[in-house]
Amino acid sequence: MAKKKTAQVPQAQAVQLPSPSEIKAFLDKYVIGQDQAKKILSVAVYNHYKRIVREPVDGSVELEKSNVVLLGDTGCGKTLLVRTIARMLDVPCYIQDCTKITESGFVGSDVEDCLVGLLRSCDYDIERAQIGIVMLDECDKTAKVHAGPNITRDPSGEGVQQALLKIVEGDVVGVPPFGGRKHPEQPLLYVDTTNILFIASGAFVGLSDIVEKRMGNSGKIGYADGTARVKDKSPLRNVTPKDLRDFGMIPEFVGRFPVIANVDPLEKDDLVTILKKPKNALVKQYTELLAMDGIKLKFTPDALSAIAEEALSLGTGARGLRAVMEKVMMDVMFEAPGSKKKELVIDEKTVKDKLSVA
Ligand SMILES: Nc1ncnc2c1ncn2[C@@H]1O[C@H](COP(=O)(O)OP(=O)(O)OP(=O)(O)O)[C@@H](O)[C@H]1O
Ligand SMILES: [Mg+2]
Repeated sequence: MAKKKTAQVPQAQAVQLPSPSEIKAFLDKYVIGQDQAKKILSVAVYNHYKRIVREPVDGSVELEKSNVVLLGDTGCGKTLLVRTIARMLDVPCYIQDCTKITESGFVGSDVEDCLVGLLRSCDYDIERAQIGIVMLDECDKTAKVHAGPNITRDPSGEGVQQALLKIVEGDVVGVPPFGGRKHPEQPLLYVDTTNILFIASGAFVGLSDIVEKRMGNSGKIGYADGTARVKDKSPLRNVTPKDLRDFGMIPEFVGRFPVIANVDPLEKDDLVTILKKPKNALVKQYTELLAMDGIKLKFTPDALSAIAEEALSLGTGARGLRAVMEKVMMDVMFEAPGSKKKELVIDEKTVKDKLSVA
């Protein structure tokens, strides 16, 4: 029997490309709400990888790379969205904290370290790294000092944005394989960043004021008929590149991130859903843990509502849920396994009692 000739599949084509709606459906399993961000990201990611897998034909239109800015309050799903997308596409993903990067010559990391992290995340498989995702987290902290609340910010941030320009645009970058400063004696690995998707992310505190001011929506001004204007719940939905520049991002940086997406603040109902619904929801996890001891765990709706309310008051988005839940469940998890109980109900009173103990 003749041996079947297998076509040489370029590495990039090994990425099975799901459609934007398939990407969004996958995100829906793990991330609650944030519909607009999910749509924008699904399309951006789809286009990014489509651009990579297509066969280059002479004279074909050059598709430009579209890096993404992802803004929004802390604990509302930015990192979760990016990690979930990377997992779905099975591409390497690295999250670089931009506050750790300093300009060359200063103590701290070089910008190339984000590529070292990416390489490490895929066992130095350069081909795979070259189609990976790098999240530039806390990139808002690299903004130029402006007359905002962050007046004490390290003024070298702007230089970090400068240093990132070439990498995010697409370039062949020499990377010291184990990070740290480049030494002449350390051979470099060369990584082409053309097909790496960069997602710049941050809370951008103060940006919503810039947007509202531009839109004339300070919340104090009323309409001509005297009715008070309702303050927009998510002014970040209307962010323009100019707003980002006014915030302190340099024009060249903003220009390399043509897609802007934002996560909305999470409300109490969202938090309740986050407790119950995602595949790895906290309620599911605790239920599973106690089921292993033969105990049926139940939360009343009022209990979940009280937990969500407490988390909301912490102002850390869904991140607060975990801490609140730990506090509520500590004693239960300690006592239940040794007891003879077959069923446990956590109601509002239990929650309030546990939370009132300092
Ligand atoms: N929309 C959401 N749906 C489900 N879980 C969420 C959502 N938002 C946040 N979470 C939960 O809260 C945790 C923190 O979220 P995440 O790390 O994505 O926040 P973030 O937006 O990146 O915040 P930061 O600006 O502080 O980095 C996640 O581990 C996740 O469990
Ligand atoms: Mg994050």
